[in-house]
Amino acid sequence: MLTTLKTNFALARAFAYDFLRYRKFSFVLRQTSRDNRRAIIRIFAHYLEGGMCFPEVRLGYGQDKSRSVIEKLRSYTQDFGVDETVVWAMATLESYFDFHRGRGFDLSALEAEFRQLSGEMDLTEIEGCGGFETVTADQIQASGSVDFEQFLRQRHSVRQYSGDSIDQETIRKIVKNAQQCPSVCNRQACRVYAFTDPQDVQTVLAFQAGNSGFHQEIRTLFVVTANIGEMNLIGERYQGWIDGGIFAMTLALAIHAEGLGACFLNWSTEPGQDRALRRCLGIGDEELVITMMAAGQLKSEFRVPVSHRKTLDEVLILDPPLS
Ligand SMILES: Cc1cc2nc3c(=O)[nH]c(=O)nc-3n(C[C@H](O)[C@H](O)[C@H](O)COP(=O)(O)O)c2cc1C
Repeated sequence: MLTTLKTNFALARAFAYDFLRYRKFSFVLRQTSRDNRRAIIRIFAHYLEGGMCFPEVRLGYGQDKSRSVIEKLRSYTQDFGVDETVVWAMATLESYFDFHRGRGFDLSALEAEFRQLSGEMDLTEIEGCGGFETVTADQIQASGSVDFEQFLRQRHSVRQYSGDSIDQETIRKIVKNAQQCPSVCNRQACRVYAFTDPQDVQTVLAFQAGNSGFHQEIRTLFVVTANIGEMNLIGERYQGWIDGGIFAMTLALAIHAEGLGACFLNWSTEPGQDRALRRCLGIGDEELVITMMAAGQLKSEFRVPVSHRKTLDEVLILDPPLS
């Protein structure tokens, strides 16, 4: 009875820990931080981009959002200058106005506001940084010609590594590739803390419970986080975890694609442990710690668990009846 009560209390406290973070740093209540303001611009830019990619484009869509994003861009750049979000949004607006002009739809008054803003900014080449691009089925299918089934089947959680570390250039390439994963409204809220110093790796690993028996082999360690300052709405309260999971999986595949090994290391912890890691790594309160991930060079031969999968029928519910 006492144990049940204690567990209930600890569970409620853990939910409160997440609730308070989400309420404070997301913009469910107010848009104050740079992250919040950047995310709003990204939401609007994403809307304008997406609208040009529907089979039938409703010309004139998004005028209120364009006006609003122009205002937000002006105040954002006054406070923070030009960053990649600004570049993306400005390139998207450029494309949006071109798209309408090219189809004879008059947005000249709104475009004049955009041109004025553009003239106030110190923007270099932004062509191709936003809007839409035309791709072909051939292009996409050619890139899919890798044997993806084999690629996936040959990915294993690797718990033995050779003593060699992964060089920084490869780490950059891996993370750059992981950045190609999808994210809600292209908000790209994830970050990666990468550790290569052997002592630092062991210090960080000491916070995590699932590496005993192989931590001594780990030379490279990633910590994936998601910034909830980029999240909005009550409905997005778990979006950071979702986007974080998608990012982390892409990171694991990017490591595998380099011929290296990786192993997720769960961050399924309670608040005290989470706080301790944050303090040590200097992770901001606005970030969720999603997972750690070990990585390293492969030995020429080593054992991995079979990790037998469930049957397809347990996983795939095809065309279930609707009521
Ligand atoms: C989010 C997540 C957390 C994990 N945490 C650990 C961990 O702490 N320690 C570990 O040895 N493996 C960990 N794993 C690896 C799983 O045990 C492994 O993915 C699973 O058994 C399937 O094996 P496979 O990855 O080789 O296909 C984790 C995997 C995921 C997705």
